[in-house]
Amino acid sequence: MVTPELDPFVKVGGLGDMVGALAKQLARQGHDVRCIIPLYGSVKRVGDWEARGQPLGADLAGGPEFARVWETRLPGSEAKVYLLEHERFFGRPEVYSNAAGGFPDNDKRFIFFSRAALNLCLQLGWTPDVIHCHDWTCGFVPVWLNTTDRTGPLGRCATVFTIHNLEHQGYCHRHALAYAKLPDWLFNAANVEACGAVNLMKAGLYHSTKITTVSPTYAREIQTPAFGFGLDHVLRFRAGDLIGILNGIDTEAWNPATDPHLPAAFTPDDLAGKAACKAALQRELGLDVDPRKPVFGVVSRLFRQKGLDLLCEVLPAIVTNMQAQFAILGTGDADLENDLRHTAWEFPGRVGVKLAFDNRLAHLIQGGADFFVMPSRTEPCGLTQLYAMRYGTLPVARATGGLVDTVEQYREGTGEGTGFLFEHADENAVYHTIGWANATYYDRPEEFATLRANAMARDFSWTHSAERYAQVYGWARDARLSGFAKHASE
Ligand code: ADP
Ligand code: GLC
Repeated sequence: MVTPELDPFVKVGGLGDMVGALAKQLARQGHDVRCIIPLYGSVKRVGDWEARGQPLGADLAGGPEFARVWETRLPGSEAKVYLLEHERFFGRPEVYSNAAGGFPDNDKRFIFFSRAALNLCLQLGWTPDVIHCHDWTCGFVPVWLNTTDRTGPLGRCATVFTIHNLEHQGYCHRHALAYAKLPDWLFNAANVEACGAVNLMKAGLYHSTKITTVSPTYAREIQTPAFGFGLDHVLRFRAGDLIGILNGIDTEAWNPATDPHLPAAFTPDDLAGKAACKAALQRELGLDVDPRKPVFGVVSRLFRQKGLDLLCEVLPAIVTNMQAQFAILGTGDADLENDLRHTAWEFPGRVGVKLAFDNRLAHLIQGGADFFVMPSRTEPCGLTQLYAMRYGTLPVARATGGLVDTVEQYREGTGEGTGFLFEHADENAVYHTIGWANATYYDRPEEFATLRANAMARDFSWTHSAERYAQVYGWARDARLSGFAKHASE
């Protein structure tokens, strides 16, 4: 796994959760899994680490760069983790960006990281069957393997490239090719070029052996102009190699029966602890402590993708017209943060907001809320609605991407379903769907209880999806090796 995030060492969003949980599950199923991540200044020192004796070099156009490599294991797993220490590129705490925006040296940072990942395999004398790359940061890995490294010791490694979010593509100057010591002929639209620049995501999509993305619906959506962010034609071109596999969740880290972040445990059969969590949540976020009021939770990066500006638009009207409370945790866009801060100030006791990254509070919101709001414009998979359902918190979500594949629409009068879905990304839909959920809570409590039981009974573990990945790895390996056989017979 070549990955920019890996839970529990470092995570910005769900990518870190996904790679950590998938690696753990694959190792459990007997695969030899190794992960490499940069050692950012904010990486958590979990477990025992050992520095490798040999420095790891990467020969780039700016001159050779060297890193120290630390070795450890994924907690609770046999999977090995290598952390790449390089002060100038990774000493800062943030992963991709700070308040001033994306780092201007992101191309160099992640090209170095990607090259170092391949060089580590060479140094270890370890040839994996498959190198699994995650999002744009690792986009050049498959390109080297198809060109400069094709006849080298790693030439037989297949690549699987997972799209977690097509919105971020890693555009950089064409100098990036030279920096990576890749041949200049690659600078064309069927390789790495887009809009006169290098596009690392596109590079990965053209050159990897197989492509996956994190839900079947998103796999279809990204082949259309509305969701393709300019790369839908590439995805249609590679449609035969593109597979949508739904993310699972780490059912140990997210288990209401054992969650150390919750003040009280609960299970589907005994929800008393959930009431205690709700009271604790209301207290912590300055909401009126009232068991009868429904709490709508949000845990999210605050960006346009997540559609929370739509919620912000109607939040004053909702809390004025409905007896409902909001518990919101997030960081991101400054305007959105300001709007939320203002609404919390305007509606004390009804809207509680914390603008921070706080894993404990994220668990408490899942545990204590009754509903979980996700008005996403796009959502490749989404993990928070899965955590929510496991914690008996019903999603109120836009019907897009993985939300379609995981949330089953409530059928009023039957108690069937696990949440409340709406089609259009507009504020009216958000207002009325929250109204529908709220009315269900007050007017149809038996059906609300049934929905909660349905949600908690769903299986979102990795068992099945990890097997799907193993199957895709097999296809990728066979395709790569047959490419070699064909080459040899020509
Ligand atoms: P995305 O990766 O697009 O952000 P996901 O739903 O896949 O969306 O994953 C988000 C992950 O990040 C979840 O584990 C969620 O709990 C966590 N998260 C997001 N914002 C915060 C925050 N402010 N504090 C703590 N955890 C957060
Ligand atoms: C991305 C997506 C999110 C997905 C996560 C893990 O950050 O935005 O929908 O769940 O990756 O794959």
